[in-house]
This record gives sequence, C-alpha cells and structure tokens, in this order.
Amino acid sequence: MIEEADQFRPDRDQSQNLLYGAGIHVCPGAALVRMQLRVVLDEFLGGIGPFTLLDGTRPVRATYPAGGYSSLFLQLDG
Ligand code: HEM
Repeated sequence: MIEEADQFRPDRDQSQNLLYGAGIHVCPGAALVRMQLRVVLDEFLGGIGPFTLLDGTRPVRATYPAGGYSSLFLQLDG
C-alpha cells in the first residue's frame, strides 16, 4: 500500500509508480513512453531553471485509467 497516495510527493520511490498499471495487464508500452518522456523532459528542463508548485494552487488528479495529474501549476523560479 502506498502511504498518502493522493499527496503530491516528488520524493517518492519511483519504482512504486502505478501510472502504467500493475500485474498481468501492466502497460506493454511503458518502456517506450518512459524513453519518450525522458527525451522530452530532458530537452524541456534543460531550457528552464528550478521550479516549485505555484502558491495557492492544488494539483488536480487525473481520472482513471489515466494516472498522475490532469493539471499541475508550476512556478519557474530561475
Ligand atoms: C503515457 C502513456 C501511457 C500510459 C499512461 C499508459 C497506461 C496504461 C495503463 C494504466 C494500462 C493498464 C490498464 C489496465 O489496468 O487495464 C495500460 C495498458 C496497455 N497499454 Fe498503455 N499506456 C501508455 C502508452 C502506451 C503505448 C505507447 C502503448 C503501445 C505502444 C500502450 C499499450 C498498452 C496495451 C496494449 C495495454 C493493455 C495491456 C493488457 O491489458 O494486458 N500503452 N496502459
């Protein structure tokens, strides 16, 4: 069981992430998408400075079968 699963905690153990499901129906496209996301995020993060969650906003959870957040407002600090 994941402690406080609804809380946005980027420091969590990434190996427990359920974005791609689990068990017999775990997403077979996960490795492809992880590689694509890494390329996109590397390029994006390489072009901006540090960021934090924007004050006064709350992350909005995505609806099943999607995982993660449907909106997450960030403030660029750099
Ligand atoms: C960000 C992108 C993606 C996310 C978040 C995602 C997420 C998921 C999740 C949560 C499941 C499990 C659904 C369940 O428990 O019934 C799943 C299943 C599946 N995904 Fe993905 N997926 C993504 C991309 C892809 C890609 C790129 C492919 C193929 C190239 C793919 C192919 C499949 C297939 C075939 C299943 C069914 C597996 C089964 O039922 O045994 N997915 N996906």
